[in-house]
Amino acid sequence: MKLIDIVDRKHPGVPWVDGERLPWNEPGLSEHILLTEHLDQKHDRASRRRTKIIAHVDWLIRKLRLKPGQRMLDLTCGPGLYCHEFSRRGIGTVGVDFSPASIEYARKTAKEENLDAEFLLEDIRDWEPRKKFDAVIFVYGQLNAFKKEDLRQIMLKINRALKHRGGLAAEICTENYPKKTYETIWYTDRKGLWGDFPQICLEEDIWDEELNASLIRYYLINSETGEIKYYSQCHQFYSLKELFRLHKKHGLRPARIYGDLEGKAFRRDSRWLVMISRKRKAL
Ligand SMILES: C[S@@+](CC[C@H](N)C(=O)[O-])C[C@H]1O[C@@H](n2cnc3c(N)ncnc32)[C@H](O)[C@@H]1O
Repeated sequence: MKLIDIVDRKHPGVPWVDGERLPWNEPGLSEHILLTEHLDQKHDRASRRRTKIIAHVDWLIRKLRLKPGQRMLDLTCGPGLYCHEFSRRGIGTVGVDFSPASIEYARKTAKEENLDAEFLLEDIRDWEPRKKFDAVIFVYGQLNAFKKEDLRQIMLKINRALKHRGGLAAEICTENYPKKTYETIWYTDRKGLWGDFPQICLEEDIWDEELNASLIRYYLINSETGEIKYYSQCHQFYSLKELFRLHKKHGLRPARIYGDLEGKAFRRDSRWLVMISRKRKAL
């Protein structure tokens, strides 16, 4: 990419058309993100800190009514931090993610601790469920990270992966999540999110009211080599009514909603929504 391509970019960019997701699956970047974002215990960026995950897993086990010996599937599991905690409590787990470094870390930890936890390096849009589970988790706003057509396919696969009356816990960003109508920001760093090299990042945040979706564009300039890379990330938002409809349409009956993964009450102004649903109809 050249500097002129930034000037000539399509403006305004459209969510899901001019970008989609961060390349979590790029080998070099996935290694960097694993260390600086997922495993760092100083922040909750790509994964939460361990203390929070432990609290979430204790709560999820109660809400999903899971017992030792049962099985749980984690879609977009990252480095398997939730799966490991479930397995430490006697629940067999399968995690699916397309980040090679994360899956390698997840497998290594499971092996070291002899956990009943299996990890699949797959894009969940291509993956097909091969086993049945007592529960599925889809956390940290990942339901928002797929375009509508892809999400419908994923929901169908969740239905097929669940046993009858099995539970789904989906942790979703609500429409109250802070959005920037339009903002451009630039910043520099000696090393940062994108790698250990001096970098200039030009960030553009776009909110599309009609699509109810956001697009973040990143133009990353490696200031040592001059190389420019384009990254993007989209989020799709849904009303409460749409979320109920989406679950029901995929054979899942919503049982309860909460404001977080520790059981906080859901309010109209909550930024997060946790929907616990149960499979009632096989599709
Ligand atoms: C914000 S992280 C959350 C990881 C994990 N759920 C957690 O809370 O620790 C998002 C994860 O989604 C994964 N991901 C994004 N798109 C994916 C796809 N299409 N298929 C599989 N994994 C995907 C990324 O590799 C990344 O590990």
